[in-house]
Amino acid sequence: MKIVVTGGAGFIGSNFVRYIYRERPDWRIDVFDKLTYAGDRRNLEGLDENRVTLIEADIGDEQAVDTAVANCDAIVHFAAESHNDNSLQSPWPFVETNVVGTYHILEAARKHNKRLHHISTDEVYGDLSLDDPVKFTPNTPYNPSSPYSSTKASSDLLVRAWVRSFGVQATISNCSNNYGPYQHVEKFIPRQITEIIEGRKPKLYGSGKNVRDWIHTEDHSSGVLTILEHGRISETYLIGADGEKNNKEVVELILELMGKNPDDYEHVSDRPGHDLRYAIDASKLHNELGWSPNYTDFKEGLSQTIDWYKEHEDWWRPQKAETEAKYREIGR
Ligand code: NAD
Ligand code: TYD
Repeated sequence: MKIVVTGGAGFIGSNFVRYIYRERPDWRIDVFDKLTYAGDRRNLEGLDENRVTLIEADIGDEQAVDTAVANCDAIVHFAAESHNDNSLQSPWPFVETNVVGTYHILEAARKHNKRLHHISTDEVYGDLSLDDPVKFTPNTPYNPSSPYSSTKASSDLLVRAWVRSFGVQATISNCSNNYGPYQHVEKFIPRQITEIIEGRKPKLYGSGKNVRDWIHTEDHSSGVLTILEHGRISETYLIGADGEKNNKEVVELILELMGKNPDDYEHVSDRPGHDLRYAIDASKLHNELGWSPNYTDFKEGLSQTIDWYKEHEDWWRPQKAETEAKYREIGR
């Protein structure tokens, strides 16, 4: 088995590559990645180059995509512009990569008749109220809020259309917020951990009441592998681990785990259009494919993640100053 993993040098993609490397020792992996600011070849360090090859290319490059797809058995498509705050400052790269790039992946999968698994997010469903008793299910109507989530929603709709119109052998998964090693310091959890390491206060958008449904990235990987191997073609599966927490609780827990006063954070201005709550009902994945998460203790997973950032300052430090300079420009 040889798979192409687009975006395999980013946060979730590289964790997935490492997971497959360990769990499927006879598979070969071509990582297809543009190495944007969010991709880093160091994320693949230590992996045997006879099994994992990095193809540095853009999913917008039709020829490069065609060649990679022709030479594999299946594609797992993670590559995307992934940060909401960036999409509010500069939406075009999101349209280009998430929509047009996915179009190129689909056309290549169609031409070469290859199995495709498309990675998406729960953010395509918009947000829930804090007391909504019903979580997101695969039947929840799409209602995205931001340029990021609307381009991911667009990519999902392209996949659905290519399945129905052209018979592309695809599945889709929509996962909740991931945490774990190798996540860029622009994102919520690594930003707060590294702010504390640098002697500054964590930054909470608005009141901190917004709820995210956290899942360890390793559990996302096991969910994707389960769907790739056993999922029914044309189906959408939601991946989540019942990890709902509001942002204030998460910041307080990070402070506590890092030996600080839990009140020692600051409020900054809110994100425009900030989604209030995401929550995943993953029962289809549990019941149909027998998947379940391993990281069921958020405090334990978070503590391991904090240790990883403490032990890998050389990994995140080069990104940190530039990231904070960008946040200062937008007042967050
Ligand atoms: P990330 O930003 O850390 O990584 C994205 C990777 O894609 C990087 O390696 C980057 O270099 C690469 N890339 C970007 N544009 C490219 C292009 N045009 N051609 C080739 N490669 C390109 O993102 P992430 O957080 O790892 O997210 C990966 C996927 O998972 C995305 O599709 C995202 O929508 C989805 N997702 C993320 C989360 C989350 O919590 N982060 C949750 C659910 C779903
Ligand atoms: P983020 O990691 O950007 O993921 P997403 O927007 O995809 O959910 O943000 C997670 C939550 O944390 C979101 O509600 C915004 C909030 N947030 C902060 O409160 N402070 C921060 O410094 C950042 C980056 C995010």
